Amino acid sequence: MSDAPPLELRGVTKEYDGGGETVRAMDDVDFHVDRGEFVSIIGPSGSGKSTMLNVLGLLDVPTDGEVLVDGRDATTLTDRERTRARKEYVGFVFQQFYLISSLTALENVLLPTRFEDDPGARDRAVGLLERVGLGDRLDHRPDELSGGQKQRVAIARALINEPDVVLADEPTGNLDRDTGTQVLEEFTRIKSEGVSLITVTHDDLVAGYADRTVRIVDGRLQ
Ligand SMILES: Nc1ncnc2c1ncn2[C@@H]1O[C@H](COP(=O)(O)OP(=O)(O)O)[C@@H](O)[C@H]1O
Ligand SMILES: [Mg+2]
Repeated sequence: MSDAPPLELRGVTKEYDGGGETVRAMDDVDFHVDRGEFVSIIGPSGSGKSTMLNVLGLLDVPTDGEVLVDGRDATTLTDRERTRARKEYVGFVFQQFYLISSLTALENVLLPTRFEDDPGARDRAVGLLERVGLGDRLDHRPDELSGGQKQRVAIARALINEPDVVLADEPTGNLDRDTGTQVLEEFTRIKSEGVSLITVTHDDLVAGYADRTVRIVDGRLQ
C-alpha cells in the first residue's frame, strides 16, 4: 500500500470505431478515487459511464492517456499482467448480477479464487456471505434468491480477493428502492473498512450515500 490513489486516470480518451465513424466515449478525463472514498459518477445514458468503469477496472484499455493503479501506470502492462492486476486490485458489481445459475451462492463467491491455490478462500467466502446477511443461504442457487440477495452475493464475490477498489455499474438498477438502499448500506460498510468504491449510475438514490459525485456528459467529466 502506498500514498498514491488506488486508481487514477490522467488525460484518458477512449474511442470506439462505430461502423466507419469514431465514437469518443471518454474525452480527456482526469479522475482519481482516494482510499476508503465512495465516488458516484452520474450521467445520462450513452455518456460514457460504463466505458469509464471498464477502463478504471482494467477491462478495457484507453486510446490515449494513463491509468494508474496504486501510482503505477497500467497502460503499459501486457494482457496477462493486466489480468493479474485486475484480480489483485479491483472487484466488480454489475446491474445484472452475473451470477452463474448452476452454482450455489458460496460457489459463485469462490469463483474468482478458482484458478489459484488459495486454502483460506472458503472461510473468507463464508465470512463474506455471513456479513452480507446470507449465512443461511450458502447452498442456494441464484434462482432461489431475491434480487437484493443476488446483488449481495455479487458484492461478496467482488470482495473475495480483498480488492482496494470495488467498481459498480448501475448496482441498484434492477432493484426496488428498499432493496437498493440495503445494497448502498452494504457499500457504506465496505468503505468503512478502507475499500474505495466507484459507482456509475443514473439513480439519484446512490448520490446520497457517496462522499463525492461527479457528472459525465458526452464523455467529459463536468
Ligand atoms: N464496444 C463499443 N463499440 C462502439 N461504441 C461503443 C462501445 N461501447 C460503448 N460505445 C459507445 O460509447 C458511448 C458511451 O457508451 P457507454 O459507456 O456504454 O455509456 P453509458 O454507460 O453512460 O450508457 C456511446 O455512444 C456508445 O454507443
Ligand atoms: Mg452503462
